[in-house]
Amino acid sequence: MAKESLPRLDQSEELREKLLPHCRLKKGEIWQDPRGLHRVGVIDAASREEVLRLFGDRRAELMIHDPPYNFRVGGKKKSAALFEKSTADYIDFSRAWVRNSIAASAEDAHLYIWLGAQQKKGFQPLPDFMMMMREFPELQSRSFITLRNQRGYGTQKNWMSVRQELLYYQKGNPEFAVQYTEIPKVLKGYYKSVAGKRTENIERSRSDCIRPGNVWLDVQQVFYRMGENVPGAFAQKPLKAIDRLIAASGGISLVGDLFAHSGTTLVAAERRGISCYTGDIDPIFAELSIRRLERFRRTGEIGWQWHSPFPEVEMRL
Ligand SMILES: C[S@@+](CC[C@H](N)C(=O)[O-])C[C@H]1O[C@@H](n2cnc3c(N)ncnc32)[C@H](O)[C@@H]1O
Repeated sequence: MAKESLPRLDQSEELREKLLPHCRLKKGEIWQDPRGLHRVGVIDAASREEVLRLFGDRRAELMIHDPPYNFRVGGKKKSAALFEKSTADYIDFSRAWVRNSIAASAEDAHLYIWLGAQQKKGFQPLPDFMMMMREFPELQSRSFITLRNQRGYGTQKNWMSVRQELLYYQKGNPEFAVQYTEIPKVLKGYYKSVAGKRTENIERSRSDCIRPGNVWLDVQQVFYRMGENVPGAFAQKPLKAIDRLIAASGGISLVGDLFAHSGTTLVAAERRGISCYTGDIDPIFAELSIRRLERFRRTGEIGWQWHSPFPEVEMRL
């Protein structure tokens, strides 16, 4: 018996059949937040028409995308979320949704993309994806961030795999707000003369804590004991990481995310008081995202830990 009350949704077609009648959106439909802040659609990120319909006449100053990785992470069955395409097909798919993301973003915008790299397959799709991104002259590559997981895999015959890759691009010239971690500065001894006085780095700095830089050591990956866990979701990103991206983007009003899954970007936006327009090709994940937001508004909880997001559905199969 899995620890979650709702098993991973990519592993049982039967379970999906049970949940679908409880999802309020059908393909192509868009949920409008009664408070007027957010939108959630059942959309295909590769469809220009669907993406532009989601955004209407608004354009996002920040896009955070976490596409399917093109390889299975422990799933038994293939689903829309965990497909395996040839690298060429995967890059064609990526080119289409990146083009749509650019069309739905503001003149000055931040674009972040989480992407996997398969160690046994030439680190694909990461290198071909990076090459493909050069086809967009309006995008400037800015940073290659690594989030270090606490737990890893493949520890016996290789370096333990603990990284998640996050690419950062800019369109135009958006504002960037420097962020700090809660990790205290400990290294001293970088001396510099300021107005004739010899100063040491800690007395010169604006914070007692270090900046995250492009290697993030202070973000816990989500697992079932954490309050933010969303049972059924199998590729959830930590709220802290998404919150950091929003905070670093200055005074923005709209963030877009074409691969909602558990609604992490949606909840992060709600907590920061900005709008999020997001969508997923799978009506179950669109529903999960809306339910997560509604639950947050009702209770202040950011996930379900191990309780089912679909309490009305009997989970035993
Ligand atoms: C890696 S997950 C995103 C995780 C998300 N960042 C979170 O924190 O929960 C990828 C999601 O993309 C969705 N997806 C797959 N193909 C899609 C497409 N063509 N358009 C939109 N969503 C798609 C999957 O259903 C899956 O929920």
